[in-house]
Amino acid sequence: MRRPILTANWKMQKITAEAEAFVRTLLPLVKSASGVEVVIAPPFTALERVGAALRGSEVALAAQNVNAEEEGAFTGEIAPRMLADLGCGYAIVGHSERRTLYGETNQDVAAKAAALLHHRIRPIVCVGESLQERESDRTFALISSQIDESLSALPRERAADLVVAYEPIWAIGTGRTATPEMAQEVHAMIREQLRGRFGEAGAGIRIQYGGSVKPENVRDLMDQADIDGALVGGASLDPESFAKIVHFDQQGGT
Ligand code: PGA
Repeated sequence: MRRPILTANWKMQKITAEAEAFVRTLLPLVKSASGVEVVIAPPFTALERVGAALRGSEVALAAQNVNAEEEGAFTGEIAPRMLADLGCGYAIVGHSERRTLYGETNQDVAAKAAALLHHRIRPIVCVGESLQERESDRTFALISSQIDESLSALPRERAADLVVAYEPIWAIGTGRTATPEMAQEVHAMIREQLRGRFGEAGAGIRIQYGGSVKPENVRDLMDQADIDGALVGGASLDPESFAKIVHFDQQGGT
């Protein structure tokens, strides 16, 4: 009942020509993938060109960040309406790089998610613990407060538009993936919390895993009961590699 969602997060990579070339190679490779949702999050500068290249396909466009304000004197920022104008169906908010490098708080994330929904853009809300937090047994408490506070402004009737991404910080870009069991344990905890907050609608919210997902490990992760997708950084930069992740059911598992 939860349609798997595979998202490419390019971070600060690819100029417009590279972004368009990626899409031209990717589209024929993922055309036959049925029953899954594919999303590409290029940098802001490539949104328009990627959006144009995706037109007529089933692949959705996402931004990597947004400002929660409608408009105004916020030099260098991008408003939700600007993303809607470019055809973004999704936006990632609260990625750990934004939380740790740019000081984004759960309250910022909550405001961004609410602002996006106002413009009919679905938020992909990221949560995740650091290595230190995991090693001191604070993972569950930390994730639970991130979920609670980051979703505090989200109206219950919009729960179906929400995507959550669990990304342990120690697994991002490190080649060190959480084992499928470790990831499932946290996903199950998040699922319970979503149910508590949104009732039955919480059971339908998709929870992506992120952190060194690659063609070789995606199948085992996706086999877990509460893992409904992947948020992919490094392995999403190459169209062949990302296409294999989209076709996770054809990859080898253990
Ligand atoms: P990674 O990044 O796949 O390179 O670990 C994932 C992410 O940060 O979204």
